[in-house]
Order: sequence, then C-alpha cells, then structure tokens
Amino acid sequence: MNKGRSLPNDYLEIVSKQYNKTKHALPHIEKEIGFFIYDYILTKKIKSILEIGTCLGYSTIFMGSAIKENNGKILTIEKNEDLFWKAKSNIKKANLSKNVDMLCADACEVLPNLTKKYDLVFQDSQKSLYLEMLEVSINLLKKGGTLIADDTLLYLTNPYKNIKRSIYDYNRVVFSNPMLDSTIIPLGDGITVSIKKEG
Ligand SMILES: C[S@@+](CC[C@H](N)C(=O)[O-])C[C@H]1O[C@@H](n2cnc3c(N)ncnc32)[C@H](O)[C@@H]1O
Repeated sequence: MNKGRSLPNDYLEIVSKQYNKTKHALPHIEKEIGFFIYDYILTKKIKSILEIGTCLGYSTIFMGSAIKENNGKILTIEKNEDLFWKAKSNIKKANLSKNVDMLCADACEVLPNLTKKYDLVFQDSQKSLYLEMLEVSINLLKKGGTLIADDTLLYLTNPYKNIKRSIYDYNRVVFSNPMLDSTIIPLGDGITVSIKKEG
C-alpha cells in the first residue's frame, strides 16, 4: 500500500474545512476513498482522468497528486462558477495546475463533445444525473478503463426518496450493462467501480 507520499495532507485539511463554510458546496469524498483512488491511479499507472463535479477540488487534489507522479492529466468539470474559481485557487495552491485542466460548464452539455478517451472517469456530480451521463461516460473510457461513481451506497441511508431512487437505478443499470464489470466497494458512502471490458 502506497502511503500517499505525495499528498499535501495539511493542505487537504484546510480545503476540507472550506466545504462547511462555502455556500452551495456539497460534501467532498471521504478521506479513505481519496486514499483508495490515489493508490488505484498509481497502481494502474493511470495517465488521463475525467472528473465530473469538482466542487472545491478536494477529490481533484487526491487524484491530481497521484497523476502528477504518473506525468498525466485530469480534466475536471464544475458547473457552479463560484465553486469553480475557488477550486482553481485551491488547485494552484496545491501546485497541481500543470496536471489539472478545469472547465466551468454543465457536464451534460460538455461530455458529448469531448473527443479524447480517458483511463478513468470519476463521477461525483448530481446523483440524478449519474444515469443520464452513463452512456457518454462509457464512450469516453478507453477499453480496460475504469468508471468510478461516488456515494453509491447512499440509497441505503439517505432520507430523500429521489436520491435513493437515482442511486439504486444507477447501480442496477451499471450491473446489467454487458460492457462493464462492476463492483461496489463499501468505503465512505460507497463507490461503484466499473471496468470497461476489452472485448
Ligand atoms: C458532491 S460535489 C463534488 C465533490 C468533489 N468531487 C469532492 O469530493 O471534493 C458535486 C459537485 O458537482 C457539481 N455538479 C452538479 N451537477 C453538475 C453538472 N451537470 N456539471 C458539472 N458539475 C455539476 C455541483 O455543483 C457540485 O459542486
């Protein structure tokens, strides 16, 4: 297990605290998920990542620190302008600007126009949009690439019916998709990890 040697742990704590104080900022990934994805990126020698839902950049800093070691790049998309500019400043302070490209836009509109294929797509936007973006996300993955969706065990605990339904439907569709091999890992609020088959 890599010990997260290139992670700016003190700075991640500072960014984490911003989430409680910033209007419209939703919770960030749990630390254990950050460590898992960090190790995954290094182990699989991932060089290209598409992140959907930057918020203030906490997850981007985990992934960016790993991809920097692999000399790779992330494209991260955030639709809220205020959050986008705050995240940009956080990424800069974490010395990750060279490895992180940022877009302030609605991912539903942007994704169909992207032409590059990615090693990893990290889905952490509005839960009701996970399913809507699934097909285009699969198209944007290289064969053997990984799609990770955050909060996918929330249907067990979240009080809101529409969130429960969105996540439940996402998992159901992903697990029955013949192009994907999927599993749910019970870290934090759960992540669904789906590998795009080679064949
Ligand atoms: C749960 S937060 C992301 C947290 C972030 N990944 C982290 O762990 O630090 C979800 C973010 O997705 C953004 N978002 C929601 N729908 C979006 C869309 N259609 N396109 C781009 N961003 C979107 C929200 O504005 C919000 O900042």
